Amino acid sequence: MEINDLFAHKSKTWDMNSKRVKNAQAISDLIVKNIKLNKSMHIMDLGAGTGLLSYFIAPFVEKIVAVDSSASMLKEFESKCDEFACQTEVKYIDIVKYDTTEAYDGVISSMTIHHIEDTPALLKKLYRMVKEGGFIALADLDIEDGSFHSDNNGVFHYGFDRHKLTEYALEAGFRDVTFSTASTIKKPHGDFTVFLMTAIK
Ligand SMILES: C[S@@+](CC[C@H](N)C(=O)[O-])C[C@H]1O[C@@H](n2cnc3c(N)ncnc32)[C@H](O)[C@@H]1O
Repeated sequence: MEINDLFAHKSKTWDMNSKRVKNAQAISDLIVKNIKLNKSMHIMDLGAGTGLLSYFIAPFVEKIVAVDSSASMLKEFESKCDEFACQTEVKYIDIVKYDTTEAYDGVISSMTIHHIEDTPALLKKLYRMVKEGGFIALADLDIEDGSFHSDNNGVFHYGFDRHKLTEYALEAGFRDVTFSTASTIKKPHGDFTVFLMTAIK
């Protein structure tokens, strides 16, 4: 089924923005510091896009399943599959409409959850998709004033309140919820901080 591709006009040039690459690397560095990854792990990258975060995490895991609802972003991901230091698989799906009995060792995500309207439902779904003892490591913007994106079409959240997200994660069943600041994205009109939330099932 065809999904409305909100990233079609951005996918080809996505990786050319050095701020995005640096942000993905900073998030990856923090994930590697906070979570014990190993070469037998199969993880999902939710909203993997062109694979910026997957690329940096790849050396530490066996396989990354790139889940995304944008065909054009996944096309870019696939075009560089050979460059990833682990196995990869792409799944063209809208996470909101998707369910699976497949369980991952962990779920990573960068700058995606603000595109998903129902955050408590998302966290409950991720809980089901993670193995016992598995992890989530989700990075996104702290609360902002709506000026981060030049076009807010498809943006359901102007960043997140860390306390609220903690509540949602605990309600979903996760434990050991932690937050740290992964990076600050500087734009001409202001600075935007990016958090990494980790939690364990
Ligand atoms: C801002 S981009 C981030 C891409 C990549 N993680 C990065 O850091 O460069 C958000 C991505 O999430 C994907 N996305 C948004 N809503 C989604 C959904 N409901 N299910 C799966 N992917 C989704 C978009 O298609 C897009 O590729």
